[in-house]
Amino acid sequence: MKRFAVIGNPVAHSLSPRLHEYVFKQLGIDANYSTIQCTKKQIPKIIKRLRSSQLNGINITLPLKQSIIPYLDVIGEHAQTIGAVNCISVKNGKLFGHNTDWIGFQTALENEKIQIDGVTCIVVGAGGAARSVLYTLAMNRVGNIILVNRTIERAENLKRHTESFFSNVKIKIGEWREIDKQELNQTLIINCTSVGMMPNVNDCPVPENFLLPSHTIIDIVYSPFRTKLYRAGQSINAKTLSGLPMLIYQALASLDIWFGKSISEKVRTSELQEFLKIIIKKYELNYDAKNKISN
Ligand code: ATR
Repeated sequence: MKRFAVIGNPVAHSLSPRLHEYVFKQLGIDANYSTIQCTKKQIPKIIKRLRSSQLNGINITLPLKQSIIPYLDVIGEHAQTIGAVNCISVKNGKLFGHNTDWIGFQTALENEKIQIDGVTCIVVGAGGAARSVLYTLAMNRVGNIILVNRTIERAENLKRHTESFFSNVKIKIGEWREIDKQELNQTLIINCTSVGMMPNVNDCPVPENFLLPSHTIIDIVYSPFRTKLYRAGQSINAKTLSGLPMLIYQALASLDIWFGKSISEKVRTSELQEFLKIIIKKYELNYDAKNKISN
């Protein structure tokens, strides 16, 4: 039996074990997937378990996506540019670091037929998630990018980082009150912050009066499934996408790396998504948040 895990801190509420175990069952794969609570200091222990084949691969979540890098033998090109590793594979005792977050976002865009070539995008947030999203946008010849973040300094760092790799990409740092929404009527808006995540289900990362029906709105938050931003987008009939497809596709990309074959093509993703929606709903109910969601 192959053994996989997600490491991070905190990690107890990660959806990844349920997601991967559902896929293993669906495809009849003899493997399990667990969560491992891990601090930066405990990384060497995990590395030992990978090198000795006690673990056959791992995903990495917050806050370890950068601190794991010095322990690895080979870092893939995309992970290197993004500066974050969320998946490790093992071959002949060597550890390979990958980034599948950007693939998750890219696949979600493709499957939803969301065009980004030449399109103006507003990216909200400047943390690790925004970094992978910007990478995908830059790889797809996006139009103008406006980066909005609570802490301007972090936005400036991310702008510098992205522009240093992509000379054709120009990022403007903006504030909501300065942006003329009428000029941006075909814009793609992507929330890459944790604003609106459980249990703060009534927080919205974008001023609601900014949204137009012609906008395409993507929230990378998937718990709750229908965030305040998602609900605001739907209420004006804008094309709106939850963070769940991105989560699913980054996981499937990890499976393809570990098993070295196109596992993801065989997965019945709509069944998987419905299953995960039920898990998320149960989690919401446990937080007694149901009565806070007003529509
Ligand atoms: P991740 O790797 O998931 O992106 P992160 O690096 O901690 O996590 O980044 C979280 C993002 O959410 C940041 O853009 C953060 O803004 P700051 O850079 O100003 O910290 C944003 N964020 C988190 N809580 C927020 C809040 N209450 N209001 C506005 N932005 C918030």
